[in-house]
Order: sequence, then C-alpha cells, then structure tokens
Amino acid sequence: MAKPRKRYVCQACGSVTAQWAGQCGDCGDWNTLVEEAGANVTPFQAKHNLQSGGRAIQLTGLNTDIALPERMATGIAELDRALGGGFVEGSATLIGGDPGIGKSTLLLQAAAKVANRGLRVVYVSGEEAGDQVRLRARRLGLGQAPVMFAAATSVRDILTTMGEGAAPALLVIDSIQTMHSDLIEGAPGTVSQVRASAGELIRFAKERGTAVVLVGHVTKDGNIAGPRVLEHMVDTVLAFEGERSHQYRILRAVKNRFGGTDEIGVFAMESEGLSEVANPSSLFLTQRDESVTGTVVFPALEGTRPVLVEVQALVVRLASGATPRRAVVGWDSSRLSMILAVLEARCGLSFSTCEVYLNIAGGYRVQDPAADLAVAAALVSALSERPLAADAVAFGEIALSGEVRPVAHGALRCREAGKLGFAKALAPAAQADKGGLALTGFKNLGAFVDHLLGR
Ligand code: TYD
Ligand code: MG
Repeated sequence: MAKPRKRYVCQACGSVTAQWAGQCGDCGDWNTLVEEAGANVTPFQAKHNLQSGGRAIQLTGLNTDIALPERMATGIAELDRALGGGFVEGSATLIGGDPGIGKSTLLLQAAAKVANRGLRVVYVSGEEAGDQVRLRARRLGLGQAPVMFAAATSVRDILTTMGEGAAPALLVIDSIQTMHSDLIEGAPGTVSQVRASAGELIRFAKERGTAVVLVGHVTKDGNIAGPRVLEHMVDTVLAFEGERSHQYRILRAVKNRFGGTDEIGVFAMESEGLSEVANPSSLFLTQRDESVTGTVVFPALEGTRPVLVEVQALVVRLASGATPRRAVVGWDSSRLSMILAVLEARCGLSFSTCEVYLNIAGGYRVQDPAADLAVAAALVSALSERPLAADAVAFGEIALSGEVRPVAHGALRCREAGKLGFAKALAPAAQADKGGLALTGFKNLGAFVDHLLGR
C-alpha cells in the first residue's frame, strides 16, 4: 500500500509544493500553505490510465437551441448597466470594495427595489445588527419595503431557512467573510471558511434559481480578501470604487460570465443614500477658467460610455539639486514617467529639475490609454505656463517613438465633448470622424508641443 504523500497547497493561488514554507514561492503570499492529503496512488492504479472505465458523456454542437437564464433588473439603472441588464437568476455575484464605500447601502437599495416589485428578497447581514439595518433602511426611506431580513452567520441555518417554502428571487449575504460553515473547522473569514461558505451558497443559487449576491471585503492592496478562488467561483465580480472623501462611487464589472465587463455605473453618496448619476461628465469637471495653466479636459471612455474628466498637472522648478518628486493621483505613475521621458527625448522638454504632480479631478481613476495626449498637454501647459483653450479637449495614445497613435471610439469622445459645450479637439492625425468638433490632428508629439507652444 503506497503511503499518501504530503503536499502543501497555497490557499491563495493553488500552487502545490512538497515542503511547507512561510511564503508561497509562486504568488508571494504569506501563511497560505496548508497541508492537504495528496492523491493516494497505488502501483495498481498507476498502471492504468483514465481513458477507460468512465461513463460516456454526450457531446453537442454550439449551434443548438439556447435557453438564456432570466435577468432580474433591479430598477437601479446604473447597477443594471454595470451588471449588463440585471442580476441573472441562479447566478452568484460578488461585490467588493473598501469598508464604508457603500456596498451595504447599494444592496439594501437594490433589495428594496426588487422587493417592491413583489419578488421575494432576503437580506442576511453578518456584520450589522437588525436594528442598525432597520435604522438605515428607514433613513433611506425604505422602511416599508417588503425585504425579509435576518442577522445570521451560519450558512447551514441560512440555507435551512431558505429551503423552507419558495426560494427567494434575490438573496444578499453581507458579507461572505462573516459567514461560517460547520462543514469545516476554522474561524469565519479564514480562507477555507470563506471558500466553503461561498461554495454552499453558490450551490444553492444554481439549484434553486436564486440570484445570490455576496459582499466581499477588500484588502489593503485592493484584492477581495480571502482566496482569489472566490473570484473564480462566482459568475460576476463587481468592484465598488471611489475615494471615501469624495461623493462619487463607480461600480465596475471586473468579471461577468453573462455580459461584458466594460460598463460602469456611477453613483453619488448623499444623505439619502446612493443616487444614480446619469451624466457623469458634468461631475468630474471642475469650474473651468480660461487662465488656469496645467489643466486639460480628457474625454475618457468607460466601455461604450464617454466620461469627461479633468487632468491637472503642476510643475514646480527646484533650485537645489534635490531629487524631484513625482506624485500621481488617479493615473498610473509609470505611465507618467514614460510621458515625461518621451517629452524629454523627443521634444527636448526637460522636467529633470522639476517636481511634477498629476491629478485627475473628482477622485476618478483613469485607465484609458488615450489619456496620454491630455496628460502631455497638461504637463507642457504647466511647464510653459501657457493655458490651453478652455473649450478644447485632448485625447490620443503616445508611443515611445513620440508617435501619436489613434485610439478607439474617437468620434464618440468628440460627440460627448460637443454635448458639454466643447468646440475643439486635439487628437491623433488618423482620427477622421470629427464628431462635430473642430479637430486638430497630430502625427507626433513634436508637432503637438509646437502647436501648444505656438512655435
Ligand atoms: P456602507 O453601505 O455601510 O458601506 P460598506 O457596506 O461598503 O462598508 O456605507 C457607509 C458609509 O456611507 C458611511 O460612512 C456613511 C455613508 N452614508 C451616507 O453618506 N449616506 C447614507 O444615506 C448612508 C446610508 C450612508
Ligand atoms: Mg457594509
């Protein structure tokens, strides 16, 4: 009889090692290696492969009839947009975000909307006591909504209760880190508990056709706490982002088995809860003033949705030879270094004795590569102390060669800018559709800088 070999499995990334170590060699996480029983392979089994002895499964083509799962629109348009039309029946959705960002508020509002339509909705909180949630519901004006509430943490109790009578259309679990499964040992919040609890709840969703929504906590570096596998287990992962000090919150689909991941929902946190923001562009633009240097409006694109944001740069000349600071809020700092390097190498503009600060106004985070040209414009404007025309927007990707490359959906960006009163666009030369703006095209960064400096 062969002895089962010991093996250690990283609970974060799943890599397997023969030796225990404090840190996983693959993902670098600490204290994640856990001993698991290895496969018990006997010499007899080793001689036989897996190519016989099973049951034949039926293979079909991809072009057979499709039964699409029903979607349940929540009635909160921004949430439905991020989900791709609403929660899908029999699916599991994970919503992650920093503490206090508004996850519980959003889900309570969504639960109330769905319950008001006559569907059975259950909201289980493992974090807050009943009265806390009731108080919040009353403050949000949702005190009368027929949402069934319970403060509970035992997955077995929750699922036993759900098993009696009709399964709810929507089940909200706030949060998965507080849930406890008695199938395995360990305190709530540990990797194995989170995984087991989520597994049971997801199985319930699939079996009974309930849309299950799990709230997930986020660690300091922005990952959903607990195992990464949680993200693999669910059908949809939503990230609720924003600066707590700002009013605006962005709901982003990170993974969606039933739709795209490129749509966002925009909310504002107000005293009566989260309100939908149908026109986000007006939010992220500050009061524009012709005489301000270093600010440029960038028509960003979130999925198919244009959002105008303001890029602000500040360049401070240093007298001494101290190492100049570079600080970025709302954009990628290595991308800023790249733009600075290209401006220096291709256009002869030196920032090496200057501190550079870059900020995206309104607490927005830009991920769109088309921001390069707007950032370059803001930097050049700040360095030369020449303001850009207040009615102009800029977009385009900058290559290391200094080439200004075309970007996706240029016309869409221009049209959104036109709607908000902008008249000019500084864009890649290859951009053909002007979307109603006076368009100036640039082939390379040198020509762009000459234009800005009036050379
Ligand atoms: P919450 O939904 O509890 O956040 P999470 O579940 O993500 O931890 O939101 C809490 C924050 O939202 C809290 O700091 C106060 C603020 N808030 C408002 O500004 N207005 C409101 O109507 C509500 C309910 C909360
Ligand atoms: Mg909460």
